[in-house]
Amino acid sequence: MILGICGSGRKEGNTGALVEEVLKAAGTESELVWLIDINLGYCTGCWRCVSEGKCWQEDGMTELYKKMIDCDAMVIGSPCYYGEVSGLVKSMMDRSIALGYMGFGKESETPMHGRKPLADKPAAVLSAVAGHGVEGALKTMEKFVNYGEMNFVGKLGAIAGMGDVRELDDVMSEARALGKKIREAMK
Ligand SMILES: Cc1cc2nc3c(=O)[nH]c(=O)nc-3n(C[C@H](O)[C@H](O)[C@H](O)COP(=O)(O)O)c2cc1C
Repeated sequence: MILGICGSGRKEGNTGALVEEVLKAAGTESELVWLIDINLGYCTGCWRCVSEGKCWQEDGMTELYKKMIDCDAMVIGSPCYYGEVSGLVKSMMDRSIALGYMGFGKESETPMHGRKPLADKPAAVLSAVAGHGVEGALKTMEKFVNYGEMNFVGKLGAIAGMGDVRELDDVMSEARALGKKIREAMK
């Protein structure tokens, strides 16, 4: 199962269209989670996850942790905001620090960094942008993927102006290629 995570608040927007295209092209079971829908709190940096083995917050992330652990691959999409990921995606990534302290998963070489329950899962990242700065958003998500020791299979930065990315054949074709790549990496 491929888990799509979309950090755009616009259901009709470009980021969602791209994540959906990637999942469709992968041609296997998938689920798309819109972070805007799941009541996602901020990481407070309290480190209770280190001592208690879970995040103290009971919110949308509680269910998403399970989905992240259970999935076979992941596609993360963020709109590019100020050359970075959206706040929703940043919160999802920050809250995911607790995954390393749930008591299972591949050990990190550095003990204080906890374990790596997402290790080796194929992961792709994408970002939609009007004009400039998409590299920053992609880099941040790539760092998240690498921190979790996931298998980074590729990225897509989609420059779409203020228009609809669905009308950009080359970009949509890149999204389909990314979907096929992630499917290949799952085998
Ligand atoms: C808060 C905010 C910050 C943005 N920052 C940038 C930016 O740094 N560079 C850019 O070209 N577009 C920027 N944009 C435009 C979005 O990247 C663009 O509209 C993108 O398609 C949004 O994704 P969506 O269609 O999924 O909502 C910004 C938009 C918002 C709302």
